Amino acid sequence: MDNITCNFVVNGRAEQISFPPNRTLLHMLREELSLSGVKEGCSHGECGSCNVILDGKLVNACLILAAEADGMEILTVEGLSDGEKLHPIQQAFVDESGMQCGACTTGMILSTKNLLDANPDPSRQQIKDALAGNFCRCTGYAKIFESVEAAAQNMKGGQR
Ligand code: FES
Ligand code: FES
Repeated sequence: MDNITCNFVVNGRAEQISFPPNRTLLHMLREELSLSGVKEGCSHGECGSCNVILDGKLVNACLILAAEADGMEILTVEGLSDGEKLHPIQQAFVDESGMQCGACTTGMILSTKNLLDANPDPSRQQIKDALAGNFCRCTGYAKIFESVEAAAQNMKGGQR
């Protein structure tokens, strides 16, 4: 199968990448760009661990062919921090112990960003609804919901 070549803006950087036409966005980001923050869980659109933001919309990268994202902007968890300084959502997950093994965490963080960009002051129920597509096998979710609430406070407090 001949490779195809597409152009993306990934975490603010223009990239031209060649890959087999059947490559998913998940595998293109991990294998061609070494963005290992995009996690593979179920590969069937059920766990949310592969979440990325594509042209401003939260998507499961395992369900999209990389070629479908040609010309689009992609944000992964690697694009959130400012050098060594964590994004306030990332910082909140650290401060509130919103993770154990971490397999679900990057997807949770991107779902949180998607929520807080639209609704900076969500209720607990709105947080639950926004994270309904993200499965965590470790935490029991309470610490994750507290992390999202702390993230909202961090962002209101003038952090990014
Ligand atoms: S790996 Fe994509 S939703 Fe589970
Ligand atoms: S922290 Fe382990 S799956 Fe969520």
